[in-house]
Amino acid sequence: MVNELIYLDNAATSWRKPETVYHAVDKALREQCGNPGRAGHRFAVSAGRVLDDARLFCTRLFNAEKPEQIVFTANATIAVNLVLKGILNSGDHVITSSLEHNAVVRPLHRLEQRIISVSKIPADIDYGIRTDLLEQTVTAKTKLIICNHISNVFGTVNDINRIGQFCRERGILFAVDAAQSAGCRNIDVQAMGIDFLIFSGHKSLFGPQGTGGLYLRPGLQLETIIEGGTGSRSELLEQPESLPDHLESGTPNTPGLAGLTAGIRFILETGIDVIAAKETQLVNRLLTGLAEIPGIRIIAPKPKFERGCIVSVQLKKFSPEQAASILDSSFGIAVRSGFHCAADAHRSMNTLENGGTLRISPNYFNENQHIDACLDALQKLS
Ligand SMILES: Cc1ncc(COP(=O)(O)O)c(C=O)c1O
Repeated sequence: MVNELIYLDNAATSWRKPETVYHAVDKALREQCGNPGRAGHRFAVSAGRVLDDARLFCTRLFNAEKPEQIVFTANATIAVNLVLKGILNSGDHVITSSLEHNAVVRPLHRLEQRIISVSKIPADIDYGIRTDLLEQTVTAKTKLIICNHISNVFGTVNDINRIGQFCRERGILFAVDAAQSAGCRNIDVQAMGIDFLIFSGHKSLFGPQGTGGLYLRPGLQLETIIEGGTGSRSELLEQPESLPDHLESGTPNTPGLAGLTAGIRFILETGIDVIAAKETQLVNRLLTGLAEIPGIRIIAPKPKFERGCIVSVQLKKFSPEQAASILDSSFGIAVRSGFHCAADAHRSMNTLENGGTLRISPNYFNENQHIDACLDALQKLS
């Protein structure tokens, strides 16, 4: 049954994964699942190696300076919270965009109610964040700019290089939410001037759910929002200052991180450019087909603009929720409907009414026939 599913909801979490990911998780659970860093026996040591490998592969993928700069979390949301709550103090000003996921919007809103001020720069569906507005938005108190790399609603790509350069020139910290780009776009934290890179492990990195993390530029430190056992300096009352232990308390997700390593290994062996090219071909096929169906409004960057593998649409005859439900029950096609945890983004593109959008997000493991089946089904609903 599951083999017949046409899965086009990869922006939420990816499926399928490379075969090696399934094997790695299974192997870790059976053969490497001691508590890493907590004992000297062989089982704990082999679990420690799983974590070391995962850090090493993230370091390579993002061109981080050294593995200790990679901190693992259960998802991107926790990584965002670590950054915002660990770096912002009373009176700080933060710049963000109108296209952000609630993982960024909500913690910022909470902090704004208590200690900081926030400016949201409008975004254009084709170009992303209006970088021309950055200069006039900065104040003497601006400490951080945080934005996503690729919008999870519209697939809009933000000009990370430009924003990174802007931050560097002004001594402002730059945090990138790469939940939708890590694994399918080249990210070089050093070349792009990124101080904090936030990633989900379970989307384009092909890891299991329960994986994600954070890169911090060397020299930066965050106040902890969680303290506890780290397997290191256990005699101290204080949380160790050294990374990654400072920000990684409690038993880590060893099987998940084994899967994440296998996912990143697959990406590095396949080539990000190859993955991106296949996704672009699929999304272009989807957009070309959608444009020929009457009664569908496409909300995505125009064809000549760079885009992620994510397309939002609205149908004349059905709400997004109704359409997604029919696609699932009558056609075996999994897509997502609603606000995609990003009401701000919908507000900015006038898609908040009528229940948000129907979001179609293929990935590298989809084929043309999946796109065509989706187009056929949408044709019948239009
Ligand atoms: C742009 C963006 N940021 C953050 C998140 C949150 O990711 P996670 O579910 O790994 O916490 C998502 C998830 O969809 C996302 O698309």
